[in-house]
Amino acid sequence: MVNSEKNKINILNSCREEITDEESIRQLDYIDKARSIVSKYEKELGRKPRACVVTFGCQMNARDSEKLLAALKLVGYEETDSEDAEFVIYNTCTVRDNADQRVLGRLGQCSNFKKKNPLMKIAICGCMMQEPGAVEKIKKSYRFVDLIFGTHNIYKFAELLYTTLCSDKMIIDIWEKTDKIVEDLPVVRKYAYKSGVNIMFGCDKFCTYCIVPYVRGRERSRNPKDIIRECEKLAADGVKEIMLLGQNVNSYANDLRKVDKDAMSFAQLLDEVAKVEGIERVRFMTPHPRDFKDDVIDVIANNPKIARHIHLPLQSGSSKILKRMNRSYTKEEFLTLAAKIRERIPDVAITTDIIVGFPGETAADVDDTIDVVNKVKFDNAFTFIYSKRAGTPAAKFEDQVPEKEVKENFDRLLKVVQETAKEQAAKLLGRCEDVLVEGVNEHDSSLMTGRMSNNTLVHFPGGEELIGSFVKVKLTECHGFYYFGEKI
Ligand code: 5AD
Ligand code: SF4
Repeated sequence: MVNSEKNKINILNSCREEITDEESIRQLDYIDKARSIVSKYEKELGRKPRACVVTFGCQMNARDSEKLLAALKLVGYEETDSEDAEFVIYNTCTVRDNADQRVLGRLGQCSNFKKKNPLMKIAICGCMMQEPGAVEKIKKSYRFVDLIFGTHNIYKFAELLYTTLCSDKMIIDIWEKTDKIVEDLPVVRKYAYKSGVNIMFGCDKFCTYCIVPYVRGRERSRNPKDIIRECEKLAADGVKEIMLLGQNVNSYANDLRKVDKDAMSFAQLLDEVAKVEGIERVRFMTPHPRDFKDDVIDVIANNPKIARHIHLPLQSGSSKILKRMNRSYTKEEFLTLAAKIRERIPDVAITTDIIVGFPGETAADVDDTIDVVNKVKFDNAFTFIYSKRAGTPAAKFEDQVPEKEVKENFDRLLKVVQETAKEQAAKLLGRCEDVLVEGVNEHDSSLMTGRMSNNTLVHFPGGEELIGSFVKVKLTECHGFYYFGEKI
């Protein structure tokens, strides 16, 4: 536990051995208690107090934020996008340093609102808070923050919220680890027609550059029955598309298998979720190339409900760098896997993540990465400049690459990535695709925007009544990363 300072309240009272759904009930009790305080604010203000949830990082964080927002709405806050609100919470990411810097910048600005609003409370939670240095920094330089908590106890938000509303002190509650999963917390979904569903938490891979295993803890898989039950509930509520979420989805159930050798595999789970009545499309994020076995490829190939999109993080195309990254595959193994996926699932889009500037990386290593991009022809790639994360093995590697060299290599790679992605996108021109309509086009309200199975966006003339439904669209014009089309 990080905090034990005398002048701060530390409510570490619920690190219980057994947390069952009783825990969710306990949290609901705190929601009732907090509601009575928030209703006083409402009387004082003559309107509902407002709450703003600011999310950084990945889909897992986005899903967590839906739970934070649910608690805030249940206690009586009204949702707003503006940080000029009575409650603001930052759900942070720490995977790269720029995410840390961005949140601290926003937090600094937010203090100006607080000076003018005596009812305002500011909270910060998520991955960045699991780093001891970050909490110290907030305590020292951002003393106006009212509540700090981490990733492992997010389910306790209602309780922490209530404690914060009752106190003038900074509340800090950080757990080093947990092996608990709390089910059935209330959620306010951002979209009516699609939803993320967590299937596992944490990561055991320990890639040498990555902070995730330290801030999200060891792999914990949810029970398949609970996952299916959640998908059924979502379907009954009108959800058509589900994204199964985990840092490493194809390691799903490795932990469960230690006690039950017949525990459902990720491939079986995908198939089961696709069987849920009302669910028309299933996505997943993120698989690890090492564990991407034939059974998963088979299930996708044989099941048109599973999206034709696989995000397969490469990180580097150099076997030497991959070894130092502890990725457990070589350039050749990745190429073989990608070729197999393309062959078995012909219309699949493969996207990836690539890091440039990992310690010891030379221009020749980047040539290897470019070679993989050219061979796999990624449909899109997120390219990141290596960011040194304190506490990871790579942070201690001595051969960090000079910034100028990293920039040159990054630009070289980006050019190839963009050319390849453009080439790939144009391949679908003239086809008719099933599109899940997501909303009105931001620039032209006569157009609707939807997503194809392979995750590419398409804009087409249509009305708002189509939002949340599947329509067939003919792709008539390709504009690099998106299409224009006509509903048929
Ligand atoms: N520096 C740069 N990029 C990183 N990623 C993870 N850790 C780092 C780091 N230290 C990237 C990886 C991962 C994505 C989510 O973030 O490419 O797949
Ligand atoms: Fe990080 Fe590697 Fe785990 Fe992905 S697999 S979360 S990159 S340690």
